[in-house]
Amino acid sequence: MALPISPPLFAWFLLMLFLPISSSHVSFQIQRTPIPENDGLITWRRLVAESPSMNISVDNSSFVLAADRTYRKDPLDDFKKYTGGWNISNRHYWASVGFTAAPLFTIALVWFVVFGLVLLLACLCYCCCRRQSYSYSRTAYALSLILLILFTCAAIVGCILLYNGQGKFHASTTTTLDYVVGQANFTVDNLRNFSTSLAAAKAVGVDRVFLPSNVQSNIDEIQTKLNSSANDLANRTLTNSKNIRDVLNSVRLGLIIVAAAMLLLAFLGFLFSILGWQFLVSILVVIGWILVTGTFILCGIFLLLHNVVADTCVAMDEWVTHPHAHTALDDILPCVDVATANESLYRGREVTFQLVNLVNQVIVNVSNGNFPPSAAPLYYNQSGPLMPTLCNPYTQDLNNRTCSAGEVDFNNASQVWRQYECRSAVVSGTEICTTVGRVTPTIYNQMNAAVSVSSGIYQYGPFLVQLEDCTFVRETFTAIHDNNCPGLEKYVKWVYVGLVMVSGAVMLSLIFWLLYARERRHRMRNKQQFMARPGQPPYPLHEK
Ligand SMILES: *[C@@H]1O[C@H](CO)[C@@H](O)[C@H](O)[C@H]1NC(C)=O
Ligand SMILES: *[C@@H]1O[C@H](CO)[C@@H](O)[C@H](O)[C@H]1NC(C)=O
Ligand SMILES: *[C@@H]1O[C@H](CO)[C@@H](O)[C@H](O)[C@H]1NC(C)=O
Ligand SMILES: *[C@@H]1O[C@H](CO)[C@@H](O)[C@H](O)[C@H]1NC(C)=O
Ligand SMILES: *[C@@H]1O[C@H](CO)[C@@H](O)[C@H](O)[C@H]1NC(C)=O
Ligand SMILES: *[C@@H]1O[C@H](CO)[C@@H](O)[C@H](O)[C@H]1NC(C)=O
Ligand SMILES: *[C@@H]1O[C@H](CO)[C@@H](O)[C@H](O)[C@H]1NC(C)=O
Ligand SMILES: *[C@@H]1O[C@H](CO)[C@@H](O)[C@H](O)[C@H]1NC(C)=O
Ligand SMILES: *[C@@H]1O[C@H](CO)[C@@H](O)[C@H](O)[C@H]1NC(C)=O
Ligand SMILES: *[C@@H]1O[C@H](CO)[C@@H](O)[C@H](O)[C@H]1NC(C)=O
Ligand SMILES: *[C@@H]1O[C@H](CO)[C@@H](O)[C@H](O)[C@H]1NC(C)=O
Ligand SMILES: *[C@@H]1O[C@H](CO)[C@@H](O)[C@H](O)[C@H]1NC(C)=O
Repeated sequence: MALPISPPLFAWFLLMLFLPISSSHVSFQIQRTPIPENDGLITWRRLVAESPSMNISVDNSSFVLAADRTYRKDPLDDFKKYTGGWNISNRHYWASVGFTAAPLFTIALVWFVVFGLVLLLACLCYCCCRRQSYSYSRTAYALSLILLILFTCAAIVGCILLYNGQGKFHASTTTTLDYVVGQANFTVDNLRNFSTSLAAAKAVGVDRVFLPSNVQSNIDEIQTKLNSSANDLANRTLTNSKNIRDVLNSVRLGLIIVAAAMLLLAFLGFLFSILGWQFLVSILVVIGWILVTGTFILCGIFLLLHNVVADTCVAMDEWVTHPHAHTALDDILPCVDVATANESLYRGREVTFQLVNLVNQVIVNVSNGNFPPSAAPLYYNQSGPLMPTLCNPYTQDLNNRTCSAGEVDFNNASQVWRQYECRSAVVSGTEICTTVGRVTPTIYNQMNAAVSVSSGIYQYGPFLVQLEDCTFVRETFTAIHDNNCPGLEKYVKWVYVGLVMVSGAVMLSLIFWLLYARERRHRMRNKQQFMARPGQPPYPLHEK
């Protein structure tokens, strides 16, 4: 995606959003939902129940995200108001949000030009008009000293605020990033485990009966898709999170350097001008002139960042309430590859259905049959009360099914069937029951294996449903909005305020270094003249 404005500072932020993207060929998104209890749906329902006024639009019409927040002047469109809402692929959005930082960029420019001219004039003045008569005022001297001290203190406070702000900002972005990476990891784990469970199903056989060959080939097919989705997501997560971390660390380092440099500058400038070291003060003034311009630009960038973060937080919140409407978030975060999720869901159901069916056919046709010894291999001397069948959670057309009376479910099957296990002996190559029972230990174990595999697959149902209906994205966004957004917004603001304070204070300090130095020079000269007047020989006064 080509962004019209792409200062590296935004990279972390954009990548954060790109992280969970499934582009057209990535099938799955992030989510963390406890698998057995469908917690997401409960959260969702609670959310809806708690806000009855909320109109959950399920239509596919377009929806403008964060429309109120992003209603700003757009310099690219004759300063008309921008109405496109949150849309980071729209250059008008960036222009309008960038325009909010315009005052700071203007200050930077004005400062650069005006102070540059002042410096030039001061320089000329110093060279040409040094033989002027001076009027020394004690008040001006004292005032400039007091203000100099004041602004130096303000600069120090600003540096401390900036340093703290960047620490908190870094911690907050790292937390958000870890959360998103955790969600992605969880999804990758689930996809891999699901794929492994499906693979296990291929190996399941009870009494020499296996899954039909078409089901086996379906498993192979979906497994390939699951593998590539999981690998792709894992790869993406790893690469992106590494990049984001690098950017975050650079931002952190940059801000620390800025804070330290400004602190040093304010301190040295104060010291040198108090000591009256003209030449060093002049050098610092020039350095400070450029640094202050830089920090004002940085302020503007952080103000912009602050607005984008706030817009995104609002956009995420609104997206949660309009999950199916077409929004700008969908452009970079297509809700999910519904087709693959649906296919996985139905394949999972199919495999579960077939496995349970397989076990039940063996129970009905073999274990519960009473065969004469001549009917081997169906006969293995099974006898006694009939075994209950396993409850199939799905119907033939893969919809939910409720268990009928007398069926055992995944949880109690192995325990109930144990009562029907006989003791066995191997007679001429075949395992034969020697006591009353319906299944030999071998068949019992095979049935248990089938039950555990099918219940394993069955448990991924809710996970796959949530992949399909976007619950996972909603949960992630809701969590980020509730847990991470307030911190992010607050600390970006701290950094911004710290930068404003530092730039403002250092800017004024610079001016007072010059003013104070001038007053000090006048004072010295005044003293000199005063001392020279009574006719004593003038002795050299070193301005130190
Ligand atoms: C919800 O939206 C529908 C149409 O999208 C509209 O008819 C209905 O009045 C809305 N309800 C509320 C409470 O806004
Ligand atoms: C929703 O999408 C379907 C097909 O993509 C289209 O037929 C239908 O008109 C759309 N509905 C709205 C309200 O845009
Ligand atoms: C995500 O998985 C990667 C590799 O499996 C691991 O290095 C990383 O620590 C995990 N991150 C989180 C937040 O769980
Ligand atoms: C995936 O399987 C491994 C090992 O079987 C297990 O430790 C892990 O908790 C499972 N992950 C999920 C998300 O179920
Ligand atoms: C899927 O990945 C697992 C390991 O993660 C591997 O054992 C299996 O062979 C792969 N299956 C396919 C079809 O690629
Ligand atoms: C991850 O993706 C990159 C580029 O898309 C590719 O070069 C690399 O081989 C992938 N790594 C894995 C483990 O799939
Ligand atoms: C976002 O902006 C792009 C580029 O202007 C545009 O193509 C897209 O339709 C916009 N998306 C929405 C949802 O308005
Ligand atoms: C999912 O797949 C099943 C069968 O493969 C199909 O009947 C159903 O309509 C699909 N649902 C969606 C939302 O694609
Ligand atoms: C079990 O019996 C049913 C009919 O009752 C039959 O369709 C099925 O093929 C039989 N299964 C086995 C494994 O013999
Ligand atoms: C099927 O059962 C699952 C879990 O018991 C439930 O979450 C889902 O809503 C049910 N689906 C239908 C169509 O009833
Ligand atoms: C097995 O558990 C199910 C539900 O938990 C119950 O309905 C059924 O009666 C139990 N069967 C036996 C034999 O205990
Ligand atoms: C078959 O099982 C019965 C118990 O039901 C047992 O008495 C008998 O000895 C067994 N027959 C063989 C050949 O083991």
